[in-house]
Amino acid sequence: MTANRLMRGMRLWLIVAMFIPTAWAMAAKPSTEPQDRVAAERNRPASPQMDEVAPGVWHIRLGQPERMAPTRFQEAPSRQQAIKTLGPAPRPPFAAAQIGVKTTERGLALELPLDSGEQVYGLGMNLKTFRLTKSKKTVRVSDDQTTLLGDSHAPAPFYVSTRGYGVYVDTARYASFYFGNLDAVRDATPAAGAASMGAAEAYRPHARSGRFVGVDVPSARGVDLYLFAGPDMRRAVQRYNLFSGGGCLPPLWSLGVWYRNDAGQNQKEAADFLRQFRQRRIPCDVFGLEPGWHSHAYSCSFAWSDKYPKPDELIREAAELGYKLNLWEHAFTHPTSPIHQALLPWSGDYRVWGGLVPDFATPEGRRIFSRYHAKTFAEKGISGFKLDECDHQPLSATPWSFPEQTAFPSGLDGEQMHLLFGPLYQRTIAGIYRERNQRTLGLVRASGPLAAPLPFALYSDAYDHRDYVRAIATSGFAGVLWCPEIREAGSPEELYRRLETGVFSAVTQINCWYLKNPPWMQVDKDLNNAGKFRKDWPEVEGVCRKVLQLRMRLLPYLYSAYADYRETGLPPTRALVMDFPEDEAARTIDDQYMFGRSLMVAPLWTGQKKRQVYLPQGDWYDFWTNERLAGGRKIEVEKPLDQIPVFVRANTLLPLAEPVDFVTPQTRFDLSVRVFGSKPEEFTLVEDDGVSLDFEKGGQNRITLGWDGHRGAQTMTGGYRGPSRYRIIRWDAF
Ligand code: GAL
Repeated sequence: MTANRLMRGMRLWLIVAMFIPTAWAMAAKPSTEPQDRVAAERNRPASPQMDEVAPGVWHIRLGQPERMAPTRFQEAPSRQQAIKTLGPAPRPPFAAAQIGVKTTERGLALELPLDSGEQVYGLGMNLKTFRLTKSKKTVRVSDDQTTLLGDSHAPAPFYVSTRGYGVYVDTARYASFYFGNLDAVRDATPAAGAASMGAAEAYRPHARSGRFVGVDVPSARGVDLYLFAGPDMRRAVQRYNLFSGGGCLPPLWSLGVWYRNDAGQNQKEAADFLRQFRQRRIPCDVFGLEPGWHSHAYSCSFAWSDKYPKPDELIREAAELGYKLNLWEHAFTHPTSPIHQALLPWSGDYRVWGGLVPDFATPEGRRIFSRYHAKTFAEKGISGFKLDECDHQPLSATPWSFPEQTAFPSGLDGEQMHLLFGPLYQRTIAGIYRERNQRTLGLVRASGPLAAPLPFALYSDAYDHRDYVRAIATSGFAGVLWCPEIREAGSPEELYRRLETGVFSAVTQINCWYLKNPPWMQVDKDLNNAGKFRKDWPEVEGVCRKVLQLRMRLLPYLYSAYADYRETGLPPTRALVMDFPEDEAARTIDDQYMFGRSLMVAPLWTGQKKRQVYLPQGDWYDFWTNERLAGGRKIEVEKPLDQIPVFVRANTLLPLAEPVDFVTPQTRFDLSVRVFGSKPEEFTLVEDDGVSLDFEKGGQNRITLGWDGHRGAQTMTGGYRGPSRYRIIRWDAF
């Protein structure tokens, strides 16, 4: 036996011994022969302990996890009480003894059970992929999802299964998951077609049909694993979101319309814009300033530029007109920034665009950044931030972000920091507002695991309408919110269709960071910037106004959806498969989605007058005509340019408000309640001050609406004593 071989055997032995009981370990001998080696590698940990850490949530520690894992940086503790209310917890989806574990010098490998016929979703939000079964995906943050490899603006090592459970692997590594496409030698019979497989067959994705999920976690010697019970997929996601701390409840105003200015605009132009929108009755709550407000960007100074000589004045004017201001930035801190020097010891050892990369995993890094932002912006009236470029470019030959070999003072390396950078940056900013007992909602380009409590929505301008809709559907598996982009378009039709999708999404934002004028004046970018407007622009504007007013009508319904997110972990937007797990046809649908409890949305694309819509089992109503439609089938739907196909689930009470142009603390919504079906479920309106965190301490009312077949009724509970938010002016039964 060569020394080399002996060494290899010894190493393997040590590795396997980490996972087996001491008695067994002492009796066994290190294996030296190749076949012994394979046998040793497939030794499983002798039933590692499985603890129920919350009802229906089990923790299993395998080996020695890395010190820096996402749970360590979690925004909020698990919501134990709320998890209890999800109902009785079924048994764990599988036993600890069914988990295969192997460590090698590469890192940790796991094998988790997977049944044939089981479909799997998740690993974060994704614009390009939906079902995961039979594929390999790597959990890696990326600003460019052109591949189907798992790269995502919000990756997370969490997946859910149609068997009704979820699995979370607590790692910040670039972990790869093989969902039923590995063929283990230990299996007595090869999984697929070994006898005769032609080339064409051999390359088909299902050709290798293993019966387990293989997980490859580089560098790690162990990992914490969490299992989430259902009994269905939706409940498993709810448990994961509550385990993460529960969904965020954004301020009421943030559910209105957002508009972002041209990055080159100056203070006077911005103020003119604000006035113009009010004069023209364009619904708008949030106005966003793009990079031009910084004295230096890219990287960022976080100091006002000469273009904004009197920012306090702009903030005051905006507030008087009922707007909230949101500021664009990224975290990379330019040498001219007032916080550059202080951040130096609390940053990574590589610069990005000449700026420091703050280590938000250290309390010092967080404190320097957040104190400055609190004093300079939040205290002065800035409502929140758009956190750009916290993703990176792993697929580029000329990447701009920090490299994987970066060392951070917290001990995180660049690979781990990539998964955690977005969430940690969000925590840093959210913390500023929490300290002020003020709610915020911001935008962010990267998120990660356990993100539900973070009050941010993801965005990116790099995709098309179809991808944006898929992201709305997949965001629901991931505990994140997604905001599809709207700006210039190929035609007014495209503008309307994208705006309509925006209205039925977590945040409605028109992001005109390189358009001098609103897109309804001119959809073509160059003509818009040259000030050459369409002759029919007032008409185009009229359609856009009407579409945006629909968003404002939905505000009370949407606020309840967010309160649900917080209390029950139910995401406000979801793929159909989550709500209809028994419906086989729903499993592949990623161009329709649920919005709140009871609305199903099926966006129309440009050039498409009609589309096929799948109505899951049960009765439905057309939102626009109130026509009743039987489910469990596909229908063809045609809608005019100012309408998006939307369907209401039978037995729903749907409150719709008279639209307001913007929300103030005093806003009172006049509601019409539409009654769909003969035995509608109760609907709960949520009433609070809409701006502070007092709701966490009981400052919130629940107004339960009911319908007895003839008339409506409402009952109220809760401890909010401010001005009442809702007045029901009519009930309409269909
Ligand atoms: C991009 C971002 C855009 C816009 C732009 C400003 O990175 O995705 O939405 O903010 O920066 O330079």
